[in-house]
Amino acid sequence: MRILVTGVTGQLGYDAARVLRGRGVEIVGTTRQEMPLGAPDEARAFVERTRPDAVIHCAAYTAVDRAEEEAEFCHVVNGSATQAIAEACENVGAKLVYISTDYVFPGTGVVFYETDDAVAPCNAYGASKLAGERAVRDAMASGRFFIVRTSWVFGIHGRNFIRTILGLAKTRDTLTVVDDQIGSPTYTADLAILLADMVESDKFGVYHATNEGVCSWAELAAEAIRLRGLRTKVTPVPSDMYPTKAVRPKNSRLSKSSLDRGGFRRLPDWKDAVKRYLTELDAIGE
Ligand SMILES: NC(=O)c1ccc[n+]([C@@H]2O[C@H](COP(=O)([O-])OP(=O)(O)OC[C@H]3O[C@@H](n4cnc5c(N)ncnc54)[C@H](OP(=O)(O)O)[C@@H]3O)[C@@H](O)[C@H]2O)c1
Repeated sequence: MRILVTGVTGQLGYDAARVLRGRGVEIVGTTRQEMPLGAPDEARAFVERTRPDAVIHCAAYTAVDRAEEEAEFCHVVNGSATQAIAEACENVGAKLVYISTDYVFPGTGVVFYETDDAVAPCNAYGASKLAGERAVRDAMASGRFFIVRTSWVFGIHGRNFIRTILGLAKTRDTLTVVDDQIGSPTYTADLAILLADMVESDKFGVYHATNEGVCSWAELAAEAIRLRGLRTKVTPVPSDMYPTKAVRPKNSRLSKSSLDRGGFRRLPDWKDAVKRYLTELDAIGE
């Protein structure tokens, strides 16, 4: 099996390629040089030239606040380029795994979102990722695709909330962190294993995949700081004390019943994932 993984310089792409290589799969990994998503036709041509058995499409415009000012370009990268990749997959008979986000949902209330719940993104990034989802469904009449919505991603290869918090905690006695946005952290090393299992299967469909359990950003920060043995105090604050360009959903709870139905194993608990992540950071001296 030959699998094209987009965005191998990013958190998830890096781990997806690593896990699949570990299983003996031939990987073609792309960066923005080989596959510039701002030029959808180049992305399409790359897939058609490579003729992989499957594409795991991890690359995306992920700067959520900047997307409010660059909504059009963000839409090209996350929507139009995904459409081009999906059409190319259909042409060459490749399966497609498209990584999406909790941000496709409105993020209100307290219930866990099921995969078929109504979507209504509250910011430009979410709208662009939803455009990507719709493009995949429309382009792939064969139905040979997976749409995998995840949230609050952290991994060894790239910037993320935990790294930022641990960096700040080194020099600060107190950190204020929002506590009214609730969701599930996702360790790319865990998600990558699930993606590898999926792409080797024919259990196509829409899935939600995060580490188990929910928390607030303040709880996630406090847990990372505690595990690192630092003394920084986390002061929980409401989101309106921390205004950002893009509106963030308060409810990012994703039901994982889709994984049960598909016969896939759920990811480990988020606290266990953070602990293993810190061990991985230790190993590179961070
Ligand atoms: N991060 C999260 O909390 C989160 C939450 C939910 C869903 N997701 C989704 O999960 C997936 C993986 O996220 P991640 O955190 O691993 O992302 P990431 O670390 O930000 O990496 C993004 C990747 O996309 C590439 N990329 C960005 N713009 C590009 C362009 N115009 N042309 C070509 N490549 C481009 C980046 O290349 P460079 O290294 O060259 O910039 C990088 O390899 C994405 O689809 C994202 O939407 C992420």
